[in-house]
Amino acid sequence: MEKKLQGIKKKVIECTKCELSATRNNAVPGKGNYKSDVIFVGEAPGKNEDMKGEPFIGVAGNKLSTALESAGISRNEVYITNIVKCRPPKNRVPTAIERNTCQNYLKKEIEIINPKIICVLGNTAFNSLLDGKEIIKFRGKVVRKNNQLYFLTIHPAATIYNQKLISVLKKDIKKLFKLIQKIKEGKKVKIDIEHMP
Ligand code: URA
Ligand code: SF4
Repeated sequence: MEKKLQGIKKKVIECTKCELSATRNNAVPGKGNYKSDVIFVGEAPGKNEDMKGEPFIGVAGNKLSTALESAGISRNEVYITNIVKCRPPKNRVPTAIERNTCQNYLKKEIEIINPKIICVLGNTAFNSLLDGKEIIKFRGKVVRKNNQLYFLTIHPAATIYNQKLISVLKKDIKKLFKLIQKIKEGKKVKIDIEHMP
């Protein structure tokens, strides 16, 4: 398992499949516990992530860490990644072409880790993974698609200038880990949205 994940990491670091490779300093593969019950999926690396080659280490990353800590979870217990692995110039939203070109890496990460649930952070991940939009209306909900569970919440960066949203993120993350506990105990979880394949 860990070997396979290392293989993906190496491919990401060397990847030149889309034009984001031309402007990046470092590609940013996913990071964390390969035995995690959950994969967190953000949008794309920002400035700090691009400098260090690690996901969610800037201000948004601090918000995510804070929310995890409030649920009693430390970052290294979980696996964190992004829809695209290289920083878009000026942090623009990655294009459909870039997202499609990069999607196989995320698909592999999911296959290898086989998480009980995928936590969708914000609109870009929501749109890319589930064809959704307006995550603020759907946050806190559980989606099932092709037999995979997803939990929807806001992007941690959305909480930076809006104090109210940090409590929303914390509340959602607490709910997520309660759901995971239920799944592990073999209890039924309520599916809010069924996506037909
Ligand atoms: N925002 C993201 O979506 N991903 C990161 O890794 C950092 C900030
Ligand atoms: Fe490759 Fe993805 Fe980086 Fe594009 S964003 S160069 S597809 S790793």
